[in-house]
Amino acid sequence: MELRSDFIGYCCPEPKIKENLLAWQDLKNVNIETTNRAFKDIYIYGKRVIQSDIFRSSFYQQHHYITTVGEHTLHVALFALESAYRMMERGYHINISNVVLACLCHDLGIIGRHEKFKNDIVCCYLHPIHSVVIAQQLIPDLPVVVRTAIARHMFPSMPIPPFSMTGYLLIKGDKLSTYYELTLLKRLRKVPSLT
Ligand SMILES: [Fe+2]
Ligand SMILES: [Fe+2]
Repeated sequence: MELRSDFIGYCCPEPKIKENLLAWQDLKNVNIETTNRAFKDIYIYGKRVIQSDIFRSSFYQQHHYITTVGEHTLHVALFALESAYRMMERGYHINISNVVLACLCHDLGIIGRHEKFKNDIVCCYLHPIHSVVIAQQLIPDLPVVVRTAIARHMFPSMPIPPFSMTGYLLIKGDKLSTYYELTLLKRLRKVPSLT
């Protein structure tokens, strides 16, 4: 799979990660035009996050057994943008900048989880708030709707639902990514099942 412009290269700290992300898009049967469009949007609207040290470091912390926080974050952004494009074709107005920023920042609070949080349950409940704090440090003018979407992204584990389209697309992308990572991606990378 070749990209016309190397926007994906800007988002990944090394070629292996780029390869992984293209394989992820193949796994989902997403065409190259949509992939190219999504990475262009991620680059344009998410540049300040992508170029940060904490985002670069997220590609070196394991997540969901099979991937890393950084790759998972881009999986979420891709799923969310693909849903957004389909909704826009049906006439919905979607703020793509908000969607990109919410997705790129939603799990930044997980970085360093073993040093920061006592256990996985504490991490589950507190990381969205940590993500909001880090996101605001990276982007001082972060819109309220993005902050709220990040803070509430663990719905339904946390009982407060999203109220915006950005929040809905983030949660949908996060859940779909987690499901794909723990099933199809695990199989693709030939990791033995736990059951
Ligand atoms: Fe999360
Ligand atoms: Fe996530």
